[in-house]
Amino acid sequence: MPAHRIAVIGGDGIGPEVVEAGLRVLDALAGAEPGLSFDFTRFDWGSDYYRRNGCMMPEDGLARLEAFNAIYFGAVGDPELPDDITLWGLRLAICQGFDQYANVRPTRLLPGLKGPLRPELGAAIDWVIVRENSEGEYAGVGGRAHRGLPIEVGMDVAVFTRAGIERIARFACGVAMSRPRQLLTVVTKSNAQRHGMVLWDTVVREVIRDYPDLTVDWMLVDAMTQRMVNKPGTIDTVLATNLHADILSDLAAALGGSLGIGATANIDPSRHRPSMFEPIHGSAFDIMGKGIANPLGSFWTASLMLDHLGEKSAARRLMSAIEVVTDRGEVLSPDLGGTADTKAVTDAVIGVIKGENG
Ligand code: NAI
Ligand code: MG
Repeated sequence: MPAHRIAVIGGDGIGPEVVEAGLRVLDALAGAEPGLSFDFTRFDWGSDYYRRNGCMMPEDGLARLEAFNAIYFGAVGDPELPDDITLWGLRLAICQGFDQYANVRPTRLLPGLKGPLRPELGAAIDWVIVRENSEGEYAGVGGRAHRGLPIEVGMDVAVFTRAGIERIARFACGVAMSRPRQLLTVVTKSNAQRHGMVLWDTVVREVIRDYPDLTVDWMLVDAMTQRMVNKPGTIDTVLATNLHADILSDLAAALGGSLGIGATANIDPSRHRPSMFEPIHGSAFDIMGKGIANPLGSFWTASLMLDHLGEKSAARRLMSAIEVVTDRGEVLSPDLGGTADTKAVTDAVIGVIKGENG
């Protein structure tokens, strides 16, 4: 097998810290799995790059990424720069430029970890949230006018297209069908938003007719939040818009124990362009540079990337190494109630991969 060519963008804050930890883990996996190898290329794009060059990535950035098999990403966001510059200049530029229209976020309460829910409820969490990642509320359409005047106006227009809804609905149905329960919950807000959200409902309803074995239920997004908290075991795969899924998946991450664990995949299902894999957390200004960021989210992310690259065995091996470490509970970072630093958690996961210490 040729080496998987991975573009590595650490980005800002704790992004580079957790991504470098992830590369160590991937190297350990390559040493342990016959035939598995990686060719990593690092890009120093992000807020420091912006301070030097006036842009988050070079003009030909997307063209340079295009040849890679996948992108392994950290986080962006800088205390001194506006988020709309940093996020739109790098992360969203890649997601939208490469039409990574499916954002996939698995959530489970990993063994040994305590979430905020009662134990029996927490243990029932086993979800995949599928987020529309190319349009909707984050289409970037809108404008500002009359700046500084009393009549100043700012508008974001939520854009829903038949093609955009159909392709994400089909993708979500595929994910749901690949899981044992074959259960899809469609999240909407068509009671209050009478145009785009009604089109969303209509097109999703058309698509699910093609999946007769799929069990489908519908939730308004506000009611969905309480169902996630009160009846987590009734949920399996979730389809939601860009904004709704953004919010629901942070709730999911919190219910799963910590924002530091959540992983996400930005996928171009057509595979014409590389997909991008990242922990769901941001650059975490409060802990950056301290060496205590939880790297497990970036490891779970790496497992999603391996799965996408067809390396199913390595993906499972990495995920179970993470679970061995959480289950033992001896080497956990402060966000999970432990005292271990990033390096110690990374060493512990690598130790399990290599078959050391049991
Ligand atoms: P954040 O995710 O960076 O941090 C929220 C809280 O969770 C902080 O207290 C942080 O210390 C903690 N936390 C996050 N990841 C952790 C980890 N791996 N280990 C231990 N603790 C962890 O969210 P926040 O503070 O809202 O945003 C900071 C910056 O990151 C902003 O500029 C924001 O726009 C950006 N951001 C970027 C994202 C991305 O690149 N995909 C996603 C979310 C936020
Ligand atoms: Mg978010």
